Amino acid sequence: MSNRRDWLKQTGLGIVGLGIIPLEGFAIPSTESVIEEKSESLIQLRSNENPYGPSPLARKAFADNVAISNRYNWDIEAQIIAAIALKNNVREENILLGAGSTEILDLVAKFASLEKGDYVIPDPSYAYWTVTLDNLGLRKNQIPLTADKKINLQAMREAVNNDTKLVYICNPNNPTGTLCERTELVNFIANIPLTTLVFIDEAYLEFTTQQSLCNLIDTHPNLIITKTFSKIYGLAGARIGYAVANNKMIENLAGMQSNTNNSVSVLSKLAAIASLKDEKFIADCYALNKTAREYTIAELKKLNCECIASNTNFIYFSLANYSKDYFKLLENNNIEGTRIYEENGKWTRITIGTMKEMQQFIKAIQ
Ligand SMILES: Cc1ncc(COP(=O)(O)O)c(C=O)c1O
Repeated sequence: MSNRRDWLKQTGLGIVGLGIIPLEGFAIPSTESVIEEKSESLIQLRSNENPYGPSPLARKAFADNVAISNRYNWDIEAQIIAAIALKNNVREENILLGAGSTEILDLVAKFASLEKGDYVIPDPSYAYWTVTLDNLGLRKNQIPLTADKKINLQAMREAVNNDTKLVYICNPNNPTGTLCERTELVNFIANIPLTTLVFIDEAYLEFTTQQSLCNLIDTHPNLIITKTFSKIYGLAGARIGYAVANNKMIENLAGMQSNTNNSVSVLSKLAAIASLKDEKFIADCYALNKTAREYTIAELKKLNCECIASNTNFIYFSLANYSKDYFKLLENNNIEGTRIYEENGKWTRITIGTMKEMQQFIKAIQ
């Protein structure tokens, strides 16, 4: 069986044979069939991906455009930038594309580190990318969350000084799923000196109803916002994300990127354009995530696990009052979770998968 599968994969027939691309003229798969494909093996609840994606229109864009991959197709850069600018109600000159928002995070790190100083970041927060800041010589200043696991904006503001090159806010925050109120953030940004970059990571904002901060870029030249197609848009493996900022700031960041706007493949750009149009898919994912999240939180609470109210596609919860070996149970049931983020309180995070996956997760740890 496995030999046949390997052979099918090698010959390329596997894609069709495994049902990933339906035979009939690349018909668009339904969300249901996507769920079924995933259910057979590992349950991946680690990296906050969208279990239903890519969207049907994005799948079609990939399939329809394979043949143009032999060319650079520079013109497609303008199309995706125009589509993103329209979506965020900004101008084309305010957008920079990256191979995932991670590339933009790296560009920001490089730019912020041109002069020595420190950077301010909540703890815990999304911090993998700060290795670049550390290695380029900026001092890390981590600001603990409040007791209810929210970003402490006042303490963050107080930590910013003349030497601070960058302050990072992940909104909603990863791993806690908490959201800073928009008015509080607007006020926060207004009180940061122009010599400090204010970096707002909106990777998960589509899981909320809160408006982006993109409309502030004209009045705040030190503001950088990143967004990604990896989360609700379901294109994590396609690697496409972007920065939104004042045009001068975009020029500064572009100066750190050797092939400006073209680290992203043509297929990923076309899939992203299609995803932006697929409003039904995004609405479906939002609703499915909300239902599965509510179910999971209710079940975790029954297991004595304190849960932080989530505004995202993951849940931050405590294993302090959970008596079984949580990580062993995940392993035994072929489920990928994450790690302990805070030893004090034994806080961990679980990604929201499909409802079926979350039922399997709960069954595994009951
Ligand atoms: C808060 C946050 N920002 C950025 C990223 C990077 O995502 P990508 O590079 O896929 O856009 C992630 C990925 O998990 C994330 O959680």
